[in-house]
Amino acid sequence: MDLGFNKIAFCVLATGLVIIGLNEASHSLFHHAEHEKPGYFVEVPEVASGVEAAAVEEGPRDYAVLIAAGDVEAGKAVSVKCLQCHSLEPGGQALQGPPLYGVVGRQIASVDGFKYSAGDTGLEGQKGQIWDYDHLDRFLERPKAYAAGTAMNFVGLKKQKDRSDLIAYMRTLTSGEPLALPAPLPVSAPADPAAAPADGAAVPADGAPAAVDGATPAPAAPATATPPASN
Ligand code: HEC
Repeated sequence: MDLGFNKIAFCVLATGLVIIGLNEASHSLFHHAEHEKPGYFVEVPEVASGVEAAAVEEGPRDYAVLIAAGDVEAGKAVSVKCLQCHSLEPGGQALQGPPLYGVVGRQIASVDGFKYSAGDTGLEGQKGQIWDYDHLDRFLERPKAYAAGTAMNFVGLKKQKDRSDLIAYMRTLTSGEPLALPAPLPVSAPADPAAAPADGAAVPADGAPAAVDGATPAPAAPATATPPASN
């Protein structure tokens, strides 16, 4: 009797352990699956931080794409941040800053009678250039990084999307034709897929732990397969 009871108790205990074990195992499986995703998406934070650090980076930006993708309505909403200091209306007056109607494609620091920041680090120092997409985008990203002496006390728009939307909207604020979009950047578009192995070089580092997990043959295999092939 006692022995029978022990057997039953053992079976119950063993079953319980197996269930707990399975539970743990599936948990760790799921955890691995979750790890896999951030690893796989690692490039997203990189891109985001790249955008934030872009004030420092000098790389070309493809405005043909960035501005064409801009959402004019969303840009109008962003422009509310400017209204405290700028008029966007036709024939608008200077407030703290100069009127901005028609500023896209306009000469920098060219509103008659407005006292722009002087010197090389101010906007006066840029006279002769125009507010094309590149100048505008970089100025709006971080005005003080663009022109240390600028009198525009505005922290900037960190997100490329906000700037793309805003500039897409601002280019419509003109009595004439909106400033033409630039030609797409040459070569770089077709070169991107070819450049993937270079980007992929960073992936094995992230892919390595995933490969150790053993749960991720699919992402790890192409990543590790490509660099040796290209070497
Ligand atoms: C706190 C006030 C303030 C805010 C907010 C502000 N600006 Fe300015 N802005 C200025 C001042 C002042 C100047 C003149 C800067 C100088 O002379 O250095 C200026 C200049 C400019 C110029 C150069 C114009 C020219 O004629 O060369 C542009 C373009 C501009 N701002 C765009 C914007 C946009 C777009 C926003 C909103 C995202 C914005 N600003 C928000 C105050 C402001």
